[in-house]
Amino acid sequence: MTLISKHSMNLYSSIPQKSYSETPPSQNPTCQFLKRRTPLALCFQPPNTLQKSTLDHKLIISGKSELSGHVEISGSKNSALAILAGTICSYGISKLHRVPDLSDTRTMMGILRSLGARIEFLEGEMVVDTEGVCSVEPCSDLVGKIRAGFFVIGPLLARFGEAMVSLPGGCDIGARPIDLHIRGLRALGAIVELRHGKLHASVANGRGLVGGRFHLDYPSVGATETLMMAASLADGVTELSNVAQEPEVSDLAQFLIASGASVERAGRHTLIINGRKRLHATEFTIIPDRIEAGTFMAAAAITRSSISMSPVIPFHLADVINKLSAAGCRVTQKGPHILEVSAVPATIGDDLQGFGFRTYPHPGFPTDLQPQFMALLTTCNGSFTVQESVFEARMRHVEELQKLGARIRVGRNSATVYGKDQGSVLHGSHVVAPDLRSGASLVLAGMAAEGTTEISGAVYIDRGYENLELKLHCLGANIKREPVTSIENQILAAFI
Ligand code: UD1
Repeated sequence: MTLISKHSMNLYSSIPQKSYSETPPSQNPTCQFLKRRTPLALCFQPPNTLQKSTLDHKLIISGKSELSGHVEISGSKNSALAILAGTICSYGISKLHRVPDLSDTRTMMGILRSLGARIEFLEGEMVVDTEGVCSVEPCSDLVGKIRAGFFVIGPLLARFGEAMVSLPGGCDIGARPIDLHIRGLRALGAIVELRHGKLHASVANGRGLVGGRFHLDYPSVGATETLMMAASLADGVTELSNVAQEPEVSDLAQFLIASGASVERAGRHTLIINGRKRLHATEFTIIPDRIEAGTFMAAAAITRSSISMSPVIPFHLADVINKLSAAGCRVTQKGPHILEVSAVPATIGDDLQGFGFRTYPHPGFPTDLQPQFMALLTTCNGSFTVQESVFEARMRHVEELQKLGARIRVGRNSATVYGKDQGSVLHGSHVVAPDLRSGASLVLAGMAAEGTTEISGAVYIDRGYENLELKLHCLGANIKREPVTSIENQILAAFI
């Protein structure tokens, strides 16, 4: 199928930026391992996906690392994924800055390409041409890999009056239903039915979506995003109440506004969206990834080191900063977008004091940092309870942390973590990353442990961290990546 618009061949030249032809990879010796990745502009099928046969790397960490220096935080994964779905709402060529180079963003690129979009991606700059989008049925295999793949249902329905999208994938952290997306789309006049494992959505009046009112029973990030995109092209005004407050939701709203949409807040929890007939392409910079920043903050704390990071939006990390400060870390804002986190022994008194926490929707403690902070707690003093209230089964990292010597008693949604004075003594071992953020928690634990830790399933970590091992290596960690042998791959496939 030819999916390229007859206009699009010359349209790229209208953007006065660097050429998006095939530039050779960096020659910098410290970045050699980056060459393992295929140039992004060339791949349709993402090389790092969750197919068992591609679980081919492990991270090897020599523990007791001490970190120092500065790390650059990438653009937000979750923002980028939602905004990529949002480009379908507009016609023409959008330019996105600071798109992180992740297997999840590659999968999303594949999904858009399967609909007819043209995409070029080089060093964080992405050009997305949605003029030629001509299919309402994204590649099911790709949608099945990531949660955000499903978010295209709203834009497709709004733009074409029809969408056929298979059920989403994503990390195995609970049931992750999509009822709010479906009920919200129905409130905008859609007929949505599940047929043969795919959601078939169409507009009831045969013309287009119509504005409506919908109250989300839970402030779901994805449902808020799906409905915001759909309502931006609906006929009339939509009122969404109890919407998610996450910064990535606001970032998508800003992107849609930059594309000509009318999205306004009415109080903290309600959005009023005045539908437009058509949105136009735009240029937009994605916010820094607060989850990556939080992971590096935890890295400084767990290794009792001092590092700085930028760009960050400290306001997005308020609860995380409070917790680290209460534990005894010194968190200093060095500039509008620069944070320094110090936990060096000279500044933390006896040692870091543990803390209990519960995850909540934003502005509460982020569920996507729960595993990493649980790893940190195993090295602090005291015993504390961690409660997971966003996802129903997000404790798969516990078993792996236990293999590294952590003393944790786990229930379905909560865990009691015993610190280093209560029996947790981290030591190297062979562990498997069961999902993205759990993988990051094992990397942190491995850096604090005595001896060598091998973490299989690096493919999960690649979903959400751009060059994690290179960034940690540059901060002083002893970490390297190696291919997993075929026997190891088989064991891993059986495990996962
Ligand atoms: C997004 C993020 C994910 C983050 C999560 C919460 C992306 C791609 N992923 O996921 O990294 O951990 O927000 O901050 O942006 N729920 C329902 N019905 C629905 C939708 C959700 O019951 O229709 C429930 C879920 O099962 C879960 C809770 O709501 O228990 C939160 O999910 P949601 O906010 O939708 O998260 P995601 O958009 O999947």
